Amino acid sequence: MIVLGCDHGGYDLMQEVKKHLDEKGLDYLDLGTDSGEVSVDYPDYAHRVVKAILDGTCDRGILICGTGIGISMAANRFKGIRAALCTDCYMAEKAREHNDANILAMGGRVLGSGTALKIVDTFLETPFSEGERHKRRIAKIDDTEL
Ligand code: RB5
Repeated sequence: MIVLGCDHGGYDLMQEVKKHLDEKGLDYLDLGTDSGEVSVDYPDYAHRVVKAILDGTCDRGILICGTGIGISMAANRFKGIRAALCTDCYMAEKAREHNDANILAMGGRVLGSGTALKIVDTFLETPFSEGERHKRRIAKIDDTEL
């Protein structure tokens, strides 16, 4: 199951993403926001999505704010979360193959919907490589104490 969260800056693109997932017959849990007109705080929606992944309700997430920057920063504060801000399909592919990203972040004021939906497909369809060097590097993200 895919969990979705956005702020007002990501609302319009998220509606396109939802339509696309509907057309593909993919289930999702939409945790808001519910309008592009009301200004909200992107960390609140990042936190909802993070919670749904960390408690096991969902295994992948998509977060969208105006740039994708703030909402990915907020999500990446949490151990076990690997949110990748992607602006093209190459980034989405490597985010899965190398980083085992569990959240895709995008900027609703940055990307056109054509590019964004291809990024979504790449993110959802690309498996983690299972490479040992990638597992080692991912483990260091969560396990290193400075
Ligand atoms: C909201 O205006 C905007 O700051 C937000 O959507 C996002 O771009 C933050 O990183």
